Amino acid sequence: MPPRVVAKFGGTSVASLERWQTIAQVARDHLDAGRHPVVVCSAVAGISDQLVSLVAATTMGGHEQLLDAIEARHHQLADELQVDPTCIADELASLRRLATGASLLGEAAPSVHARILAHGELLSTRLGAAWLAAQGLPVTWVDARTLLTSDGRGGPERAFLGAHVAPRADEALDARLPEGVVLTQGFIARDPKGRTVLLGRGGSDTSAALLAGRLGVPCEIWTDVPGMFTADPRRVPAARLLRRLSYDEAQEIATMGAKVLHPRAIAPVRVAGVPLTIRCTQRPELEGTTIAQGGSAGAQVKAISHRNGLVLVAMETLGMWQEVGFLAKAFQIFAEHGLSIDLVSTSETSVTVSLDPSANALDVALPACLEELSSSCRPRRIDACASVSLVGRGIRTILHRLAPVFELFEEQRVHLLSQAASDLNLTVVVDDEHAPKLVERLHATLFAHRGADQLLGPTWEQLFRDTTAEVDVDVSTPWWHEQRAGLLAVAAQGTPVYVTHRPTLLERAHALLALEHVDNVLYAIKANPHPDILAAFAQRGLGFETVSPGEIARVRDAHPDAPILFTPNFAPREEYEQAFLDDGVTVTLDNLHPLEAWPDVFEGRPIFVRLDPGKGRGHHQKVRTAGARSKFGVSLDQLATLKAAADRVGARIVGLHAHAGSGVLDPLAWQDTAAFLASVAADLPDVVTLDLGGGLGIPPRPGAAGLDLQALDRGLGEVKAAHPRYRLQLEPGRFLVAEAGVLLARVTQTKRKSDVHYLGVDAGMHTLIRPALYGARHPLENLSHPDAPHGPPTTVVGPVCETGDVLARDRLFPAANEGDVLLLAFAGAYGAAMASDYNLRGRPRDVVWDPAA
Ligand code: LLP
Repeated sequence: MPPRVVAKFGGTSVASLERWQTIAQVARDHLDAGRHPVVVCSAVAGISDQLVSLVAATTMGGHEQLLDAIEARHHQLADELQVDPTCIADELASLRRLATGASLLGEAAPSVHARILAHGELLSTRLGAAWLAAQGLPVTWVDARTLLTSDGRGGPERAFLGAHVAPRADEALDARLPEGVVLTQGFIARDPKGRTVLLGRGGSDTSAALLAGRLGVPCEIWTDVPGMFTADPRRVPAARLLRRLSYDEAQEIATMGAKVLHPRAIAPVRVAGVPLTIRCTQRPELEGTTIAQGGSAGAQVKAISHRNGLVLVAMETLGMWQEVGFLAKAFQIFAEHGLSIDLVSTSETSVTVSLDPSANALDVALPACLEELSSSCRPRRIDACASVSLVGRGIRTILHRLAPVFELFEEQRVHLLSQAASDLNLTVVVDDEHAPKLVERLHATLFAHRGADQLLGPTWEQLFRDTTAEVDVDVSTPWWHEQRAGLLAVAAQGTPVYVTHRPTLLERAHALLALEHVDNVLYAIKANPHPDILAAFAQRGLGFETVSPGEIARVRDAHPDAPILFTPNFAPREEYEQAFLDDGVTVTLDNLHPLEAWPDVFEGRPIFVRLDPGKGRGHHQKVRTAGARSKFGVSLDQLATLKAAADRVGARIVGLHAHAGSGVLDPLAWQDTAAFLASVAADLPDVVTLDLGGGLGIPPRPGAAGLDLQALDRGLGEVKAAHPRYRLQLEPGRFLVAEAGVLLARVTQTKRKSDVHYLGVDAGMHTLIRPALYGARHPLENLSHPDAPHGPPTTVVGPVCETGDVLARDRLFPAANEGDVLLLAFAGAYGAAMASDYNLRGRPRDVVWDPAA
């Protein structure tokens, strides 16, 4: 028998003619090299989900439409491949028989469920076999149920839907396979009685690994990414390809949240000692990641992975900790409620564990479990957490080298820290919303400076430089790409210069004005008080949120009728007095002191009160404006005193206000605030308006998903339905202006020091302070030469005498030279507004620009 290789193709890899052409090419290449491939295929992308719905429809109705849709999808693919659809007629007929039979019974037993789902793979491989044969390939369709047999163990659910097939060598298997290309199905097997069973989630990877293990041959997993990376490349474009990993490292990375390979697929190849390589269907020329014995040498961090949606349970043990058996008892209770524990950390007085909701039915089981736990400890549930793990062998031995990493935790609330007993990972659990940024920064700290070597390949950005469209959610072109010539002309008149694109301002205002459940939109002018921006928004009917007499005057002088909200913090008495002189200004009070110490100022006035919603949110510690350690807002326990003081002088509380922070992408944050304010307003009969603050975030980079405004609106709709009497008001700054503004700066010189490449520009922290102050990442481009080849990772700095004078660190972009104009994007908010004359270098020019004007 000739040597073989197993090659697995997933759902998107079997869903079109183009992808089948790749499969044919891979098969041909193997045959040319003298290897006979065993090709393992998944169901066409989307079909397995439809089959799951079909199973549900057998009880709930609607199975005919689903059957029609599944048939139509396969006929469409047959059309595209130009194969005769009679090759799938039998499978489609048997699927219809099964689904109809189960519908008559009103249920699908696990055995029927398994047979229904198996049709996804049977159909895709029937079509593929017909097409490969038509291309002249020597292909044989083989039923996977003749190749893999499960152990038959477990109850019906496990035995049919999550079956286990033992990884072992099978010398006889090779002789049973025909020569040439064998085309078979992933995900399915038979049980010892010959009945169809499924291998559970990630089943096709497992099938391929099992077959490779039994045959003792290499395994290739062809998928839509070119391997495992040092971080999730969709979040961290600078993530590096990992060329080689040991089985245990790959297992760890797969288990810790990377979705490239199902962790169950590793054991079979490990047992057999055969290599497994991850390859990219769209880019077959790339080398991929090879997982094999030994991996690469030395202790080092190889990847940063993260998992969202974790729930923690912290158990305060009231001194029970010393008691023998407390942990055993607590863990027993979790087990009895079917909850599997993931991470554990213990101390003298408390034990904290994490639960992965994907593996646990938390909604039902957890409340009951907590109830039972409370007889022996004080259990507390902490939702919305994420784990961030440094993965690699021997981390314990290199802790001293991780000092810069630990510095990054200075501003994080770390709920739990755990070091794996295997010494393969070090994990921290933080709030969900902070995880993406933390991953990005950890990655920059650990990997940005490392050159290519045996372990680390190119970055995702380098691999997909020209095909970023495949990575991003939304491919709309940023406005500055279309306006390059015009921007260069603006830059020619002097740099550094902020340019704000008027059409984008209007488009953002329009998006907010279109929200059904928001009654008022105010622009927080601190983000950018340029008079032309105020004029554009005033014309569209927006009001303004201001924080100083200067801001009030800026609005009032140009827009005599615009509504203004004054939301000062620690403002002196005169500022309140002055604000009340203008009838169009509504004053927000965020402290008790002014009312108690200067009651006459507030006599008979309508006022808003700013409350502290308790939990801060936002992109950085410094922009979170709630919680005990923030200076903003009145805490709830002072509200009654404040109300009494207001009553004494006849001041009426007509509005409640809260602003939790800035740069928030969770669309339900404002619903939470609204519900909070509505609950407080129940005791305040004069309240008409609930101001939910600003803070609406923008996408992390152009083309990435941003805030889901429709979800935000739906959330507010729910509050409106429950509390129809309140007007809901938002006061965003960033959302309205950030993406409209870019900063143009000219390159003055280059410099190399050890392995760091610097680019000096005529802007600096005095022009744009956000990178220095918050570690903000502004997208960076070479406007003069957008198509130049990428240079080495480059750090862009200004001329200010501070080490922190950095605008961008270790970025990959088209190489730039003296005289080139660089563009820093998303600079319209808190850019020009926070610029200073530090080092007496002057402030930047600042223009609002309409290319059509
Ligand atoms: N309302 C109040 C009461 C605020 O304090 C702020 C911002 C806003 C509205 C507007 O927040 P926005 O929608 O722009 O996120 N310099 C920081 C942001 C500081 C925000 C201060 N307060 C940055 O560059 O990220």
